[in-house]
Amino acid sequence: MTKKEILSKTENYVRDKLEGEGSGHDWWHIHRVRNTALKLGEEENADLFIVELAALLHDIADHKFHDGDEEIGPSTARNWLENLNIDEPVIDHVTQIIRDVSFKGADVETPMKTIEGKVVQDADRLDAIGAIGIARAFAYGGHKGRELHNPGITPESHDSFDSYKKSTGPTLNHFYEKLFLLKDRMNTKAGHKLAEERHRFMEEFVDQFLDEWDGNYES
Ligand code: ADP
Ligand code: NI
Repeated sequence: MTKKEILSKTENYVRDKLEGEGSGHDWWHIHRVRNTALKLGEEENADLFIVELAALLHDIADHKFHDGDEEIGPSTARNWLENLNIDEPVIDHVTQIIRDVSFKGADVETPMKTIEGKVVQDADRLDAIGAIGIARAFAYGGHKGRELHNPGITPESHDSFDSYKKSTGPTLNHFYEKLFLLKDRMNTKAGHKLAEERHRFMEEFVDQFLDEWDGNYES
């Protein structure tokens, strides 16, 4: 099978599985991450076949919807790629990226081993911030039945993936627990540049949100 055929079969598989999903992990998230990852990958001279495969498969099965099982993503991707008879080093590389890519708490480092991993992680994180990031955070919070905001519950700084996974705080806390931290954790220069603009937009959003919340009618 050619690389083009592999990518097209994988795209169809992922789209079938994630189309219409309502928590912000839908097919369009994958589509955006793929496009951003390819753009960053080009600038970084990464292997674009690996980048595209990993971007397509990175959310194929999420621990958040499988009782916290962290192996479900990599193993679902591995099964798919084995069925396509892909070379083992490619399968290893792609599943490693999927295993490492996620944010795991403010105090947990999530280094990527290869440039392909770095650009996929940057692309995934860029989709978690800015206007789309705000929309996805509240979509996820609504899906999980969380409050928008609760001034009585302060944000936490999670020092393990386990405690991060268990947190059930209001959605506004997620900005402090994850979204505002992403800008300074970008791997690539181009990713960092894009993140800065999206970061500013989120800050403005949260400032205005809190002004409205507090009833500051003049500002
Ligand atoms: P990552 O891409 O680092 O694995 P996740 O899959 O945890 O990120 O998150 C995917 C989307 O869901 C992101 O946009 C993220 O901000 C949102 N999300 C995850 N956890 C929460 C939460 N507790 N509250 C609001 N949004 C969340
Ligand atoms: Ni993702």
